[in-house]
Amino acid sequence: MNPSSLAALAGLALLASTAVSAQTISRGEVIASTCFTCHGTHGVSPSTIPSIDYIPAERMIETLRAYKSGQRYSTIMGRHASAYTDAEIVEAANYLAGLQKKGK
Ligand code: HEC
Repeated sequence: MNPSSLAALAGLALLASTAVSAQTISRGEVIASTCFTCHGTHGVSPSTIPSIDYIPAERMIETLRAYKSGQRYSTIMGRHASAYTDAEIVEAANYLAGLQKKGK
């Protein structure tokens, strides 16, 4: 390999690494992506599990807290919600509500 193609490769590697570091993923987004496994991409469910894409942030926070405390009955959501702190619930709810504003 000649020196100029080596330099080009090094440049490419640098570009690739800046592209990755420029992409910041919020904690709300990471948590919300776990919801999509069951509730469908962006909360639009393809199955009998309810869609969650229309729920405002305030109601989502209340619902997740109720699942977490056991105040609201669930088969799965209580166990899932209890894995998150109150702050994480708020961040996930805000991220999900933000998707609705973006029209997703
Ligand atoms: C393992 C599958 C699974 C995951 C992961 C999951 N859910 Fe659920 N979700 C359910 C099921 C099933 C229900 C129905 C209630 C029950 O039995 O638990 C539900 C119910 C809900 C409801 C009530 C919907 C309604 O119409 O009343 C909300 C809100 C909700 N989930 C939000 C979330 C959020 C936010 C996340 C991510 C932090 C999440 N869920 C992750 C399976 C899941």
